Amino acid sequence: MSEEKIWRKRGAMPWEEPLIFEKSVPGQCGFQISDEPEIDAEKLIPKKLVRKKPAEIPELAEAEVVRHFSRLSSWNYSLDHGFYPLGSCTMKYNPKLNEFIAGDEGFAELHPESPENLSQGMLELWYRLEQSLAEICGMDAVTIQPCAGAQGELCGMLMLRTYFDDRGEKRTKVLLPDTAHGTNPASAKIAGFEVVEVQTENGLLTPDMIKPHLSSDLAGLMLTNPNTLGLFEKHISEISQMIHKSGGLVYMDGANLNALMGIARPGDMGVDVMQLNLHKTFSTPHGGGGPGSGPVAVKKILEPYLPVPRLAKSRDQFSFDCNQPKSIGRMTAWYGNALIWVRAFSYILRMGKDGLKEASELAVLNANYIRAKLKALYHIPYPDACMHECVFSDHGFPAGITTMEIAKRLLDYGFHPPTIYFPLVIHGALMIEPTETESKARLDEFISALVKIREEAENSPELLKSAPHRTPVARLDEVSAARHPILRFNQKEAKGR
Ligand SMILES: Cc1ncc(COP(=O)(O)O)c(C=O)c1O
Repeated sequence: MSEEKIWRKRGAMPWEEPLIFEKSVPGQCGFQISDEPEIDAEKLIPKKLVRKKPAEIPELAEAEVVRHFSRLSSWNYSLDHGFYPLGSCTMKYNPKLNEFIAGDEGFAELHPESPENLSQGMLELWYRLEQSLAEICGMDAVTIQPCAGAQGELCGMLMLRTYFDDRGEKRTKVLLPDTAHGTNPASAKIAGFEVVEVQTENGLLTPDMIKPHLSSDLAGLMLTNPNTLGLFEKHISEISQMIHKSGGLVYMDGANLNALMGIARPGDMGVDVMQLNLHKTFSTPHGGGGPGSGPVAVKKILEPYLPVPRLAKSRDQFSFDCNQPKSIGRMTAWYGNALIWVRAFSYILRMGKDGLKEASELAVLNANYIRAKLKALYHIPYPDACMHECVFSDHGFPAGITTMEIAKRLLDYGFHPPTIYFPLVIHGALMIEPTETESKARLDEFISALVKIREEAENSPELLKSAPHRTPVARLDEVSAARHPILRFNQKEAKGR
């Protein structure tokens, strides 16, 4: 298929669209305020806060406003448009059924301060979700309060600290492998621990690497499993035993549970506390920038430290229980991100035990399919079979072509690029997570784009160096955008640009 055809089939619409301020026509109006009396702002607001001149608000007719935003929305590549192999983010297609159920007004319009007796349905759903997650993970108790994976990590590490404080033990160090997800060391540090980095061997943590660190001031180990290289930490049970013997506890970052569901349970591997990311594995996409949910699952010894309120059940009635003297306290205002739990519970019920297992098996199969198909053309730093994601690098690419060029050129082929330059232990990493929801045909299209890109790198590297050629914008200055964002429109500045 020609590049032009591929673009027409899969690409975004290459429209130019001015800013809404630039489209403004003085006097055009999209709404009418009804017969409200004129208000004298100076009588209501301190004088120094009153505007000297009216705000520069664009003036446009309703149809123009709708068209403007509809066009912009079509530029935004999403899971509903196509393949989104953003490693570590688990951008899988999430069934609309779960959106539909979360949109039910009984759930969506329930006020967070509704009394318990009027919220029994929602409370039951949360209670049953906590129990389902405990069963999937092989743990004893769960809180669904934390609002992100990283907040779940912090919650778990705060519990670890409170547990040792409660026992009068001064354990200050936490071991983290060099493959840890970036949020792990930050969470351990914020919870008051000293972070000790441990080297891995061929991408894995080994008992030998742990041994020298076992001591009476070791609080525990924080381990992402499967790790950020997409590899299963196969020594985890032995390492857990070693940590326990020396009096420490094991924290597992379970954000990658989408590779393990129904196959292996962290609780059976000696894990004492873990978080999981509902917004990766359980029917809410991660990279969309929306709300998240990072439930924390614990073994019995840590249950007293879970955040309050806990959910309690007594004779089929559900209530909040704040009477937990050893609790670390609240992690969120109210109880957390409620509608993500509705989606997650709906997903779990719809999939069932066998469905969850099959989802994980397919996620692993798809990643290995891509790995096997591309391994002759793209360097794989850790050649073992992978779990749900596979990591390549730009090592050996000709003509100075880097991961950035490969990612930019993928845009021309109509695909969202994979995660790049992460994990940090691999120079020029290209991290592909296809997820279980992609068909073989879609994976093959993606593979053939990467095969073509490799050929282009050999034969016409300039094509890659100047890519992308077909997007509304090409190479943005991401650093300036992050460090010096322009968030307010200014007519004068806009004219000067
Ligand atoms: C392995 C792992 N741990 C932790 C996180 C952090 O989760 P969040 O972005 O919700 O804070 C992520 C996010 O992708 C992850 O992949």
